[in-house]
Formats: sequence, C-alpha cells, structure tokens
Amino acid sequence: MRELEVARQAAQAGGAILAGYFRQGVEMRTKQECDFVSDADVESERAIIDVIRSHFRGHVILGEEGQAGAAETLDTNAESLWVIDPLDGTTNFAHNIPHFAVSIGFYQRGQPVCGVIYNPARGDWFHAVRGAGAFTNDTPATVADHASPGDSLVGVGFYYDRGAMMDATLTSIRDLFQQKIHGIRRCGTASLDLCQVGCGQLGAFFEYELSPWDFAAGRLFVEEAGGKITNCCGDELPLAKSSVLASNGKLHDAVLEIVSKNIPDQDMG
Ligand code: IPD
Ligand code: CA
Ligand code: CA
Repeated sequence: MRELEVARQAAQAGGAILAGYFRQGVEMRTKQECDFVSDADVESERAIIDVIRSHFRGHVILGEEGQAGAAETLDTNAESLWVIDPLDGTTNFAHNIPHFAVSIGFYQRGQPVCGVIYNPARGDWFHAVRGAGAFTNDTPATVADHASPGDSLVGVGFYYDRGAMMDATLTSIRDLFQQKIHGIRRCGTASLDLCQVGCGQLGAFFEYELSPWDFAAGRLFVEEAGGKITNCCGDELPLAKSSVLASNGKLHDAVLEIVSKNIPDQDMG
C-alpha cells in the first residue's frame, strides 16, 4: 500500500532527526507548565510533512506542532488526512530515556486506514493496516488473552494537568489495584502504550485526556491486534481531544466500569 510506504519513509526521516538530537542533546522549552517542546519536535515534524507532501500534494495534514496548518481550521473528515506526532514522549526524551516515538496515522473520511509508530532509539517499528493486521518489526501482533483484571498489567497516562484530572487518574489507579491487577505502568509515550496493548504486554491502558496525534496510529494498532479502543465512557473515539481506554477486548467492560465512574468532568468524554 502506497500510503503505508510513505508513512514509513516519513517516520524514518523524522526518527533520524530525533535520534541525532537525542545523542547530542537539545534545549527543551515549555509550552505550558510541565509540557515541553524542542527543535527536535519541530524539525521532525518538518521532515515528516516534506516526505508526505512530496508524494501527496493535496492531502490534509494535522501535526501537533501546527506547521501544516492550525488544528482548529482543518477538516478531520477530509478525503485523505495524515495525523502526526513528530515526537511522542517528549518528557522521556528530555530526561534521556530512550522510550519515545514518531507516530503517523493515515485517515480517509475520518476512518483510520494505516498507521506507523517508530521508536528510533530502539529501532522498533510498529505498523497496522485496516483489515490486514498489526505488526511489530514485521511480526504479527496480538492482544493478551486474559479476561480478568486480576491477571492484568495496566498502563496509564497523566495529562499535564496537576488538578482534577490527576486526582481522577490516581483514584482509578487505586480502584484498579483493589481489583488485584498485577501492577500499573506509566511509560510516558501514549502511542507506544497503545502498541503495548496490541502486543499483549498491557491488558489495558487509559488516559483521561489525549490529543488526536497521540492515538491516531495506535488506535488502529490496537484494533488490528484484536483489541478494543473507546473513550473512557465507552463511546467511539473522535479525531479530537478525548479520554482513551484501550484493552484486549475481554477486559474492556471491567476497566471501563472503573475509569468511567471516576471521569473528572462530564463534558470530557
Ligand atoms: C504525551 C505523551 C504522554 C501522555 C501525554 C501526551 P507528548 O505526548 O504521549 O505519554 O501522557 O498526555 O501529551 O507531549 O510527549 O507528545
Ligand atoms: Ca504526544
Ligand atoms: Ca509530541
């Protein structure tokens, strides 16, 4: 599939920039409290956009750093849309932890068609194609098989908020521990968290606020690996800011019961 090949090429180009800055070090700036950005994010996005544009001039591109157009003015139901996080896991990157990724999702009329997630520090590739499966370094990926929270490891993400959303997340973690889960993991890169659900390492993952570029590619990876992904109310994910719950499918209702009752704000979804 041509779009998948272009996504890989674009991820390779962005990833090479990230790997270079990771080795040599880069100055981090704050977007808002505890939310970082650097030349690495911006240059990676530029390189990704250049590759996509060189193949598909007319496609719409939604990138976190906004170099292809402001998110608010873009048509997320466009015939052909690319959704890019040029550096997912910026906080890990800033602290020299080699757990970060480039994430690129390709959508047609609001539906995911293919996605690539690439961790250049570890050389790990993840990709998924609608109807054709999910793959880790070209090996098929499948979600875990267990149905009980008592057999699960659960991933979680904290949005940058240190108020109600953080409290709600901590309450859900406590409630999950009371269901005797094996443990909680906060690895710090949402796209890779979703890949870990798809690979069967995490039984489930939730976060109360993510942006479309955080989950655009990973959501297809989870679904194609046999899992389920919704918002934390159990509804279909929009291509917009949303809460996210991903699971192997069998665990979905049990985890949903906990994360939905603790949602901090009814409007959040
Ligand atoms: C962040 C990471 C993190 C998640 C945050 C995201 P960024 O993305 O995916 O795991 O908890 O909510 O914003 O800022 O590193 O691209
Ligand atoms: Ca991100
Ligand atoms: Ca980012």
